[in-house]
Amino acid sequence: MKKIFGVLLIVMALLGLTACGNNKVNTGNNVETLNPPTTSASNILIAYFSCTNTTETIAKHIESVTKGALYEIVPEEPYTADDLKYYTGGRADKEQADSSARPAIRGDVENMEKYDVVFLGYPIWHGQAPKIIYTFLESCDFSDKTIVPFCTSHSSGIGSSDTNLHSLAPNAQWKSGRRFPSNTSRNTVAEWIESLDIKLTPDVAAFDLDGGENGCAPTVMLNSGYEMPVLGIGTYSLHGETCVNAVRSALESGVRLIDTAYMYGNEKEVGQAIRESGISREEIFVITKIYPGAQFANPEQAIRESLDKLNIDYIDMMLLHHPGENDVKAYKAIEKFIEQGKIRSVGLSNWYIEEIDDFISQVDAFPALIQNEIHPYYQEQAVVPYMHNLGIVMQAWYPFGGRGHTGEIFNNQTITRIANTHNVSSAQVILRWHLQRGVVAIPGSSNPDHIRENISVFHFSLSDDEMSAIAGLDRNDKHDWY
Ligand SMILES: Cc1cc2nc3c(=O)[nH]c(=O)nc-3n(C[C@H](O)[C@H](O)[C@H](O)COP(=O)(O)O)c2cc1C
Repeated sequence: MKKIFGVLLIVMALLGLTACGNNKVNTGNNVETLNPPTTSASNILIAYFSCTNTTETIAKHIESVTKGALYEIVPEEPYTADDLKYYTGGRADKEQADSSARPAIRGDVENMEKYDVVFLGYPIWHGQAPKIIYTFLESCDFSDKTIVPFCTSHSSGIGSSDTNLHSLAPNAQWKSGRRFPSNTSRNTVAEWIESLDIKLTPDVAAFDLDGGENGCAPTVMLNSGYEMPVLGIGTYSLHGETCVNAVRSALESGVRLIDTAYMYGNEKEVGQAIRESGISREEIFVITKIYPGAQFANPEQAIRESLDKLNIDYIDMMLLHHPGENDVKAYKAIEKFIEQGKIRSVGLSNWYIEEIDDFISQVDAFPALIQNEIHPYYQEQAVVPYMHNLGIVMQAWYPFGGRGHTGEIFNNQTITRIANTHNVSSAQVILRWHLQRGVVAIPGSSNPDHIRENISVFHFSLSDDEMSAIAGLDRNDKHDWY
């Protein structure tokens, strides 16, 4: 894997992104005018101390670029204007002159263990970090975390202020610090972060479900920098007019994510329904897949075939249908089409923990998505968090258990009890469960009422108890062979 997330998230930050199925890409270079990524970097903490907001402004730029968590180091006893007057012998002067001074901090960082990169910001006080930074460093365990100091000042450089902190967190990996003048732009901060070459893991499991509406699913930010709706329609087993009508109906209901595959034999119909919908191409996210065997052996031809059949200018996401001979070769062919702009993102299907690490070591583009069989009876409780930690979005095919099994899952007493509580269908409960555990879903249906129902899961939410009750239904019951 040659590309790392440090670069990747910056790319994400360079993209102009909007919600509700709009994955418009802004290729301009002016970072200042563009929106930040909508997905947080789950491993980044930006801790800062600031009395007159200068350092805070830089901290907020870092937050805007990385989408990490912002934490203000607040003194138990606030600094008054008099305290800050320097060279007056006031409080700040005294503390800086006292090697044992450790001003108390109000509160602490929640879940410190989940962060592995800490940006640490402070104003320069007499050439050094304020003593409250010393308090902060001594109050937490920074073992194995990367600390990136940054500071602001009137005119001094960072000097020894950062290296003098090292002994307070000796087990951390310290990056060289950087001083920023007060008028520093977000652009400058973004470039600095990119140069740090640190691993930023996008939080691909935290969907803004409150931002969704029935008929308008929210999106998740992929590690490729594109947004994808968190609910879509799967078209497996839909053919001919039935497929065209199902996709048309889905688009009319507000569905903006369509999943197809060479093997489904319906890419032509999917493309036709999209072209005829009158909806802007940029608003629709299309996934297709190439298949092991002849297609993996001659992937360029297979990809061109998909592009021709779909005839929608470009493909949003191309997946490998499942592992097989020549899968690395096929993936690399997809990478080439990404470079040419004919495919935007790449991912895998039916890929598990045993296969992923070895695979990603052989390719350049990090997989943005893994589409697997996931449903209440086969929850992939180990696979889902494993892939999420890699920054890969997980997507459920067979979200209701698959053909021949949906009846059993829909009638499961736990599911029906929860459905009755919320006055929704079993299908809606299951979809909501997928989304609340951070799994994107592509239920298949040709029934317009069901399609509408499936995109209507944003007016209720499942409690922690309800989520646990459904988690308890897992029985490792795989319904397909992949
Ligand atoms: C007690 C104290 C000492 C300071 N010492 C220096 C200094 O040595 N060099 C310098 O350039 N600025 C110094 N400053 C100015 C601050 O570093 C500068 O205004 C900083 O940007 C303030 O950050 P803040 O707004 O986040 O609190 C000092 C300020 C205070 C209050």
